[in-house]
Amino acid sequence: MSSTLQGKTILITGATAGIGFATAQSLLQKGARLVITGRNQERLNQAVRKLGERVIPVLCDSANVAQIQQMATQLQRDNIKLDGLILNAGVFYPVAFEQMSLDNLNTTMAVNFNGPALTLQALLPCLNNPSSVVFISSVAVLKAFATAGVYSASKAAFEGLARVLNLELAERGIRINSIRPGVTATEIQAKAGMDQDAISGFFESLSSTPVGRVLTPEDLVPAINYLISDASIGLRNAYIDIDGGFGL
Ligand SMILES: NC(=O)c1ccc[n+]([C@@H]2O[C@H](COP(=O)([O-])OP(=O)(O)OC[C@H]3O[C@@H](n4cnc5c(N)ncnc54)[C@H](OP(=O)(O)O)[C@@H]3O)[C@@H](O)[C@H]2O)c1
Repeated sequence: MSSTLQGKTILITGATAGIGFATAQSLLQKGARLVITGRNQERLNQAVRKLGERVIPVLCDSANVAQIQQMATQLQRDNIKLDGLILNAGVFYPVAFEQMSLDNLNTTMAVNFNGPALTLQALLPCLNNPSSVVFISSVAVLKAFATAGVYSASKAAFEGLARVLNLELAERGIRINSIRPGVTATEIQAKAGMDQDAISGFFESLSSTPVGRVLTPEDLVPAINYLISDASIGLRNAYIDIDGGFGL
């Protein structure tokens, strides 16, 4: 598969940590050139120091429409054409439905739905024909768990859009497929407000799932690489559930 990624130019949103960062490491090893985004300049600089020189960092908060437009303008100005786009940046702010606020709704939708939608739209002039878009969705689209309603809806919303875009953008050679990760050990749990004890207990509870443990970003990377590469050219609107059986 590595030969299908050699020399490809791929943009990953939210590659300063977790699944995005692990994917960046792997794609670089396979010979791809990368554009990576993050919402925090210092974390972006740290990621570039770790990833090396074949990475172009762009400060772009997925919830910031002006920054998304600036990124698209910058790429066009620098004549950067993309073979792949990984829409990975996402947030998880669990809240009981009764306590759900407009702020929680707006923030989650802005990052998890509006962000990938507007990023894809802004980058249309930069996408080669053919090109592959991979959306990092979630097992939460399939499996209900309390307090994840807004998050689940935000991921399902983009999956709904992607289904239509697979037809609408087909003549440009653009195809969209999704990965639905199960619980994966990243910073997202701490950012969701869980303390270390709660995180450990949550991960331990996953010993009862078929895979018997929490997933790691590295469990997801091979499937992301497959979807972004020409090896998956026949796939349109596919969902790969990588949840260790959590959603069964
Ligand atoms: N981990 C899981 O259990 C799990 C399960 C299912 C789906 N997912 C999905 O997988 C994707 C990656 O999550 P992860 O687990 O790797 O989380 P993570 O470790 O928190 O990484 C998320 C990445 O997205 C970036 N990001 C967050 N908000 C952003 C924004 N507004 N604009 C630009 N970048 C932003 C983060 O930047 P900072 O470094 O500045 O925070 C970070 O680089 C998300 O879409 C998430 O919903 C995760």
